[in-house]
Amino acid sequence: MMSKERTFVMVKPDGVQRGLIGEIIGRFEDRGLKLVGGKFMQIDRDLAEEHYGEHEDKPFFDDLVEFITAGPVMAMVWEGQDATQQVRTMMGETDPAESAPGTIRGDFGLDLGRNVIHGSDTEPGSNGREIELFFDDEELLDYERIDEAWLYED
Ligand SMILES: Nc1ncnc2c1ncn2[C@@H]1O[C@H](COP(=O)(O)OP(=O)(O)OP(=O)(O)O)[C@@H](O)[C@H]1O
Ligand SMILES: [Mg+2]
Repeated sequence: MMSKERTFVMVKPDGVQRGLIGEIIGRFEDRGLKLVGGKFMQIDRDLAEEHYGEHEDKPFFDDLVEFITAGPVMAMVWEGQDATQQVRTMMGETDPAESAPGTIRGDFGLDLGRNVIHGSDTEPGSNGREIELFFDDEELLDYERIDEAWLYED
């Protein structure tokens, strides 16, 4: 069995404004992933610049920071087997126009700069870094979901 891990996920301001929080949370719940932390918040400029630090030299950086700070986001931590990769697969490609129907971006987006959701990438350490940036340890909960005994073989 692959190891259980935690990953950082965020419904971006466009997803919040378009009323997609419940739909997106429902998809992860249905899949069997477990919500272990959640925060409805507005990101300030410092946090945005740190979160997207890897893109600071890109031409779209200023627009990206402007967008992600423009309204509330739903920041979350989801746990499960191979959670980071599974969330990325469920999100689709970075560009919604290239995302398959059935994925979140493929079902709910059309434009690269308005792609509804963020999830940690699979670079080692990315998920942990992002979780720490948004959540204190005591804000993440350890508990069993009642269906876990039937969700995993062992
Ligand atoms: N060429 C681009 N032009 C405009 N915006 C872009 C471009 N590439 C990426 N972005 C924006 O920057 C965000 C971060 O890019 P990244 O390469 O990390 O994609 P991602 O990992 O799929 O998305 P995210 O990090 O938001 O989950 C993208 O979600 C997108 O909104
Ligand atoms: Mg990314």
